[in-house]
Amino acid sequence: ELSPELVRAAGLIREIPDYPEPGILFRDITPLLTDAAALKATTEALLAPFEGTFDVVAGIEARGFILAGAAAIAAGVGFVPIRKAGKLPRPAASVDYALEYGTATIEMHDDLPAGTRMLLIDDVLATGGTLAAGRQLVEQVGCTVSGISVLFEIEGLGGRELIGDLHTVFHS
Ligand code: PRP
Repeated sequence: ELSPELVRAAGLIREIPDYPEPGILFRDITPLLTDAAALKATTEALLAPFEGTFDVVAGIEARGFILAGAAAIAAGVGFVPIRKAGKLPRPAASVDYALEYGTATIEMHDDLPAGTRMLLIDDVLATGGTLAAGRQLVEQVGCTVSGISVLFEIEGLGGRELIGDLHTVFHS
């Protein structure tokens, strides 16, 4: 089902055992990002099912910013940052969540009109806690999540069960 270009791009995701903590198999997407053709193909694959369904792309700090920013430009729409706590000057909403390693809080501004349709993009789905919190945040500011798109799904950690309907380009 994956194009040859996407199969090649998948091969550029590097597995790092025991990072950032013992027992965690970290998926390092930086070799994929460094490769121009892989970056373009994966950005297009993230957007493919969602053409015409969103007004803006929202990305989750930090690695989600890279792909969401690229996708926003490719789709010809704007970008909304969902940031870790304390980084935005006018946070309108805040959500706490549990991570595979640790806990975190994310925040966002509410500069867009209620009902704005947001495509939510992140690099990796593990437990799904981050994207569930991101979705909650978008809804708290009165906007709509029109879709969720993720580059790499780590299976077996409950992410898909928690999030429900989402599009993933690669999986473990
Ligand atoms: C990683 C990754 C996802 C999240 C996935 O981000 O980029 O956002 O974890 O895990 P989950 O599905 O279990 O929530 P991290 O919080 O490590 O932040 P970073 O992008 O700043 O490295």
